[in-house]
This record gives sequence, structure tokens and C-alpha cells, in this order.
Amino acid sequence: MPADTLPEPDAAACAAGGALRSLIEQTLRGEGNWMSFARYMALALHAPGLGYYAGGTAKFGAAGDFVTAPELGTLFARTLARQVADLLRPGDAVLEFGAGSGALADALTEALAACGAQPEYLILETSAALAERQRARLRAPVTWLDRLPQRFSGVMIANEVLDAMPAHALAWTAQGVFERGVCIDDGRLAWADRPATGEVLAAAQALPVVADARYESELNLAARAWVRTLAGRLARGAILVIDYGFPAREYYHPQRSGGTLMCHYRHRAHGDPFYRPGLQDITTHVDFSALAQAAADTGLDVLGYTNQAQFLINCGITDLLSEVDATDVRRYAPLAAQAQMLLSPVEMGELFKVLALGRGIDAPLRGFTAGNRAHTLAA
Ligand SMILES: C[S@@+](CC[C@H](N)C(=O)[O-])C[C@H]1O[C@@H](n2cnc3c(N)ncnc32)[C@H](O)[C@@H]1O
Repeated sequence: MPADTLPEPDAAACAAGGALRSLIEQTLRGEGNWMSFARYMALALHAPGLGYYAGGTAKFGAAGDFVTAPELGTLFARTLARQVADLLRPGDAVLEFGAGSGALADALTEALAACGAQPEYLILETSAALAERQRARLRAPVTWLDRLPQRFSGVMIANEVLDAMPAHALAWTAQGVFERGVCIDDGRLAWADRPATGEVLAAAQALPVVADARYESELNLAARAWVRTLAGRLARGAILVIDYGFPAREYYHPQRSGGTLMCHYRHRAHGDPFYRPGLQDITTHVDFSALAQAAADTGLDVLGYTNQAQFLINCGITDLLSEVDATDVRRYAPLAAQAQMLLSPVEMGELFKVLALGRGIDAPLRGFTAGNRAHTLAA
């Protein structure tokens, strides 16, 4: 990691980073100098007041560490609104998980109102700091939840949320499957492998990994549990998961032998999760087959699966573009730039996928009318 080329955090961020590091070291001391990577990721991202998402750094946009689709402008939300509006029935609600800066909620509530839909808009956000930011931004009436409703009808949306859930790190070796954890070695945070056991080992053994040399990857049990929990609460409606990732066969492809762990600090992507804990984002890609399996196990239907470009095209993103006169460069150029980022296969168009799960939805979803790849999810 070329730390000398990266911008220095300010004093407040350094102090928060130091406090988080002390918490991680103290936890390690109390637990025999080893914690699972999932535990480390949970602390580094979500420790109350100190984790990356829980703390006060910018995170989103030019001054932050990364840009998400809703942060590019309103085109993503306005296109998504068409699918959401189709799915809503009178009395239904929209529940957004992990609303970040509030950009999606802001544009989606407005676009839904323009389609004549004004559902109750709920946000479930684990970061108190981001919920505060959302409250300051949002004009439409929104209710923040601190737990899932017991029963829910409508549309749940998670855009770039599952990649931030704590994942286990694994290594397949000639000696068996190891769980990659974190220890302090010579005063520094470092990787430490232990033989995998229990639920982690059982889940690892079910993955389609074929490796003749050391093979490292990730396993997101939290994302599977999230689907199972939602399945228990969804009376009727859909869950739209939008994130970067692959079906299992691609995720655990022999050539992806280094896994999908990625860190983001000031728009630089790198692979060192121990760099400035609390001040950088740590993510893993989503295994969409695992989510589809969790859905099937709990009685949810897979309503569609495709890449972001195909989904947005099916939802009519080009109609929205054509509403603006292309010779009106001041208005058209920013829209075309958003479309390019959202649709281009070398930007977000192919790596990002949309998975729709649901219950009680009979009509096909417009987002998957062409290019539905749900068949590729079978492990
Ligand atoms: C990468 S940001 C994405 C923000 C926003 N959805 C967007 O697309 O711009 C991840 C968001 O998910 C939140 N988050 C992480 N884990 C969560 C969970 N288990 N439930 C709800 N929100 C979560 C974070 O606090 C943050 O708001």
C-alpha cells in the first residue's frame, strides 16, 4: 500500500482511528490474540462511534472514499422508481437499508411521487452518524427504524449494503480449509490462519471451490442470515439487492484465487484491511447464489437476476435520457455522464447486479424482461 501517496486524515479522524485501534487491540488481548476476520470487519466498519460507517468521515462523493450509483445524480433513482412503483400496492411501504448520505431516498421519494405513488418511506440504518446526516438532508417524510418491522408489505431496497456486511475470510490449502483471522504480530495487525470449524467449515465445504494450490476467498454468513430474517417478515412484496458481485461459480472461480476483499480510501482501491482501520471502507463482493439459496430455503421466490445495465435499460433509462433535448448540452451532458457510469461494462454496468426476491408477486418484473440470468445462480 503506497501510504506516502495518500492524503493524510485530519486530527479528529486520526484520534478516532487511534481509539478504534485500541478497541481492536484490547479485544484481541482479551481473546488470546486472535479474532475472525468477520469480527475484525464488524469492528472496523461498525463499532459504535468509531467504525468507518459509524464515524464522522465524509465517505461518499468527491471528498470521500467512493461513489455509489445514487451519488452520481438522480438518474439511477428515477429509473429504479419505475420498478418500485410497479410493485407497490395501496398501503405498501418502501424500506431502504443503509441509506448512506440519503441520496437514493431523496431522489426516489420524489420520483415515486411523480409516478403518483407516495408510500410510507422507512430507513433502517445501522450508523447513527449517517442516520443523522440523512435526517438533515431529507425533505420528504421518512421514518427511521431501529429494528425490522414484524410484518412488511412493499419493497425493500439494499444498494451497496451487503458488501459492507462482515464476511469470514477463508483459505483452502493442501492441509484443509483455514479461517483467516487477525492477530497482533510484532506490534502490527496481521493475518493469522486457524483450521476452520463449525458453521464456517460446513459452509466452506459446500462452496464450489476447486483449488490445487492455496486459494483465498470470502464467505458472507451475515448476508445469508439477512435474507432469512427478511423472509420471515415479508408478507407480500419484493427485496431488491443491488451490489457488486457474481454467482458462486464465478465468485469461486479457480482464477479468482485471491478472493474479493477490497478497501477504499480516498478513491484508491487496495487490498490491505489493516491500513488505517476506521478510516477506510472494507468490502467483499456479494455471492448472489448464496442469497438465492437462502431465499429458496425460506420460501422466497427469485423474481429476477441480471446486471445493473440490463436492469436499468429494461426499466427505461433511455426514455428518461430522451426526455432531455441532446442539444441542450448543459442539461444533457451530466445525464449522459451518469448513464455512462451506470451502464458501461467497464464501470458499474456489468460488475453490479440486481437480484429481486419476493413473495406473492405474480407478474414478471419489468427490470428483468430481457437478459434475466437467474438460471446462472444455481451453484
Ligand atoms: C456503501 S454504503 C451505501 C449507502 C447507500 N445505500 C448508497 O448506495 O449510496 C453502506 C451503507 O449501509 C449501511 N449498513 C451497513 N450494514 C448495514 C446493515 N446490516 N443494515 C443496515 N444498514 C447497514 C452503512 O451504514 C451505510 O449507510
